[in-house]
Amino acid sequence: MDHPRGEGNDLRPGEDPLLGATLGDYQVRHRVGEGGIGIVYQALQQSTGRRVAIKVLRPELSSSPKSARRLLEEVQAVGAIRHPSIVETLGWGQLPSDGRCYLVMEYLDGVSLEQLLEKEAPLCADEVMALLDQVLEGLGVAHAAGVVHRDVKAGNIFVTSAAGGARRVKLLDFGLAMHPGRSARMRLTGESCVVGTPDYMAPELTQREPATAQSDLYSVGVLAFHLLTGRLPFIAPSAHEVMRAHAREVPPRPLLFESSVPVELDALVMRLLAKRPADRPPSAEAVRQELFRIARHLAEHPRRKRKPRTALAMIALAVLASAAALAYLALGGR
Ligand SMILES: Nc1ncnc2c1ncn2[C@@H]1O[C@H](COP(=O)(O)OP(=O)(O)O)[C@@H](O)[C@H]1O
Ligand SMILES: [Mg+2]
Repeated sequence: MDHPRGEGNDLRPGEDPLLGATLGDYQVRHRVGEGGIGIVYQALQQSTGRRVAIKVLRPELSSSPKSARRLLEEVQAVGAIRHPSIVETLGWGQLPSDGRCYLVMEYLDGVSLEQLLEKEAPLCADEVMALLDQVLEGLGVAHAAGVVHRDVKAGNIFVTSAAGGARRVKLLDFGLAMHPGRSARMRLTGESCVVGTPDYMAPELTQREPATAQSDLYSVGVLAFHLLTGRLPFIAPSAHEVMRAHAREVPPRPLLFESSVPVELDALVMRLLAKRPADRPPSAEAVRQELFRIARHLAEHPRRKRKPRTALAMIALAVLASAAALAYLALGGR
């Protein structure tokens, strides 16, 4: 690894020793994001001029063999799956300086759904259904390959702009993915401390039961709730209480927070959020078919746009006021 000086406007040597460093064929340009396990950089593949993304294990996790194994498992989990809804992995390596593992991926231009929610929440039902369809398409392919994602959430889903301005979803971060037969694990730092968000965690995972495709579908239910309402179904002061709520409490309906949610979609989200995996839809494909039916039904029976509640209240007040004025006039203005 060497550190060229003064190349590129975005290089800030000294701030982060990886900025400007060369890793084999890749020159690291700048940071583009971070998550619980890694820091993600944009890099240039020098032989081809192609932009790539490199996720490097966080320095504080460098001594954790579990975290390193997780990053390599991410390569194994998605390396064999090629699908437009799943980020393409190109390889992996280890930093010569401290042996930290890194993962090379296709570079994505766009924002995570988490960032999109910060700007645009809540999203309209049509857009949510289109985004969910692509998420489910990618998950269906992963599930068919025997891979359960285990960490489906807004921060792990990227939206890029496709031709014509349409949004294309990419599933990221298969670092917690499980192949069939592995025991349930949780995201750890060091060896014992749980980090990461339990906000999307299926009830069975809070009990440390094995993850299945149905666990991912539960998280899709939380994601749908989040996109439709701009908030999570369970909000509590501690991670433990959130997990407890996922395990025991009846979730609120999305309609309670956003009156424009179509009832059919509201009902589907509630089924995805069923406590027992067997009570959820049987597969990602089954949910896609249901979304298709709902979209078709909505197209055939367009609903009149509801007036916002405040507008309705103002109209009601205006009607009352004019009724009172009429009564006053009818009584001769006495
Ligand atoms: N291939 C990519 N192209 C562009 N940005 C990316 C890419 N992969 C990840 N990111 C950014 O980095 C963030 C963290 O990535 P993620 O894979 O979720 O890391 P972690 O495993 O640490 O949670 C993402 O939310 C996204 O903003
Ligand atoms: Mg992540």
